[in-house]
Amino acid sequence: MRLQGKTVIVTGGGSGFGEGIAKTFAREGANVVVNDLNVNGPAAERVASEIALASSPKAAHGRAIAVQGDVTKREDWQKLHDAAIQDFGSVQIVVNNAGTTHRNKPVLEVTEAEFDRVYAVNVKSIYWSVEQFVLYFREQGGGAFINIASTAGVRPRPGLVWYNASKAAVIIASKALAVELGTDRIRVNCINPVMSETALLSEFMGMEDIGYAREPPQVPRDDSARKILDAAGRRQRRALLRLRRCRVHHRRRARRGRQTVCLNYRLARHAMGAARVLHRGFP
Ligand SMILES: NC(=O)c1ccc[n+]([C@@H]2O[C@H](COP(=O)([O-])OP(=O)(O)OC[C@H]3O[C@@H](n4cnc5c(N)ncnc54)[C@H](O)[C@@H]3O)[C@@H](O)[C@H]2O)c1
Repeated sequence: MRLQGKTVIVTGGGSGFGEGIAKTFAREGANVVVNDLNVNGPAAERVASEIALASSPKAAHGRAIAVQGDVTKREDWQKLHDAAIQDFGSVQIVVNNAGTTHRNKPVLEVTEAEFDRVYAVNVKSIYWSVEQFVLYFREQGGGAFINIASTAGVRPRPGLVWYNASKAAVIIASKALAVELGTDRIRVNCINPVMSETALLSEFMGMEDIGYAREPPQVPRDDSARKILDAAGRRQRRALLRLRRCRVHHRRRARRGRQTVCLNYRLARHAMGAARVLHRGFP
């Protein structure tokens, strides 16, 4: 219960990493404000109610509330702040997790609207979070921002130019904020995940995740695409198996209390390589 008595806001907490972060923080005793857009149904509400259901007298979790909102909008940050204060009294941690990408494609095919959306969700959201919470944290005597960037911001992935660039902006903004706000006892950290099977995976790969790793597709013997498909399927399976092994390894290290940072570039390159083969085979 390392986070008992703390309140955390998790943006994009309705699925993927955000859902995992919200549930883990709640298990550690934190009260969680789960935020998400309500585009595909009440995702944040589902996560908040699952947190409530998982709590028991033996394993008392922190409480959770769902707050629908768009992290690119100033008024929605105000809403998040007000809801957190009203329900939990204070806020100690903001996790800027909500993120998006343009689909994997050549740079000249990315439209202005896609560019603006990627920068608004990935970068401007952090601007608004800072605007909303820095003064509050200063008055409170401290606080923490955790920004979810990506290894794509360090080692760019093919076909994702403006996503890569937006995550590089998150990384450098986090470093600059950490330097500037450290004296106010405000910590700013940044996490660079590699690749995971979340809703964004198909966008990163430029193709639907049709589960090669779990079940190789059945293709007629005389299909000329078969060879490409088999080779690509094998590569993707290998890459995802490596990714899982890497996760198990890092989980074990974390259980033994060792700090661990997973920046496995070779793995990411492998997985993206598999995606490129598929992309070429099936334009
Ligand atoms: N999945 C990966 O392989 C991977 C790798 C590196 C970094 N990341 C980063 O991890 C973060 C989480 O992504 P994920 O992979 O869990 O994907 P995801 O799509 O499962 O989760 C992103 C969530 O953010 C929400 N969201 C999007 N725009 C929003 C907005 N304007 N306001 C509020 N919520 C919004 C979505 O509704 C979704 O629930 C992102 O910042 C992503 O860039 C993901």
